[in-house]
Amino acid sequence: MGLLQKILIPVLGLVLAFCFYSSRENFKPEMLKGKRVIVTGASTGIGEQMAYHLARMGAHVLVTARTEAKLQQVVERCRALGASSARLVSGSMEDMATTRQLVEVAEAELGGLDMLILNHVGKSYFNYFDGDVGHVQKLLDINFLSYVAMTVSALPMLKRSGGSIVVVSSMAGKVGFPFTVPYSATKFALDGFFSSLRQEFSIQSVNVSITLCILGFIDTENAMRAAADVLLMSPAPKEECALEIIKGGTLRQREVYYRYASTKLPLLLRDWAAELLDLLVRQRYRPERLRAA
Ligand SMILES: NC(=O)c1ccc[n+]([C@@H]2O[C@H](COP(=O)([O-])OP(=O)(O)OC[C@H]3O[C@@H](n4cnc5c(N)ncnc54)[C@H](OP(=O)(O)O)[C@@H]3O)[C@@H](O)[C@H]2O)c1
Repeated sequence: MGLLQKILIPVLGLVLAFCFYSSRENFKPEMLKGKRVIVTGASTGIGEQMAYHLARMGAHVLVTARTEAKLQQVVERCRALGASSARLVSGSMEDMATTRQLVEVAEAELGGLDMLILNHVGKSYFNYFDGDVGHVQKLLDINFLSYVAMTVSALPMLKRSGGSIVVVSSMAGKVGFPFTVPYSATKFALDGFFSSLRQEFSIQSVNVSITLCILGFIDTENAMRAAADVLLMSPAPKEECALEIIKGGTLRQREVYYRYASTKLPLLLRDWAAELLDLLVRQRYRPERLRAA
């Protein structure tokens, strides 16, 4: 058994690395030309960067978030970068009316949808779990239930186009991380829902791909403000992260790991040496630097 583990883990790593790098080579920006894409949480951070990449590739971009003034600037920049078209719907993902409106705009003004990128994330705290059940409920509504609602509403259009659903998750949705208890719960829920749904699509021959994106620490303004002092790791750039998500969704990959070495490789330990992985995770934190609650 020990020998099997010693051989199996490196071989598995090599196979995964080969699959990852060989599929990356097939991506061409022209694949997105004229494609109709919704990006949620696009007023800032990774979502904003995805909108700009898509615009450069000539996609029709429909962005959403709550802050209309910021979205307006994103739309203007998308137009300047060469988007086939750029438009916005502002509103909170806590409100089902926003999800309905987005889908109606895609249907009426774009004539359908090729890719749904679910990326938005509600504000949470970076600290020990404070016992606030109401906050967990609210975050589940924003980070999980609205992803489900968007998927249900957009599915008829995605079935027609043979399209893709891209779900932006986190290492905190695969491994127990400290100081993000409510957030982690919502990200684990996404994995359960979308991995199950992918199986059903396969059984029913539904030609809609589901790509789950497992991200490490990324240098967005909000993430840096929340965690940079406490985390002993350097963040990866949001621009590159955004591009890797789009590549993975376009190539209909099952999962995207960014950055690969700091996300996929540690996960190889999860089923074989979970306590070791937990220990390695804890060593990347400086709890003494947490802000007083
Ligand atoms: N950055 C990281 O280190 C990191 C690591 C792992 C995973 N991720 C994942 O990557 C994704 C993007 O992260 P990010 O760092 O780019 O986030 P961010 O910069 O904080 O952006 C979050 C986006 O969600 C929108 N949003 C927040 N609450 C909303 C609500 N109630 N309704 C609708 N939209 C709402 C925000 O816009 P408004 O405020 O205008 O609504 C904003 O556009 C998230 O799913 C996150 O979990 C990030």
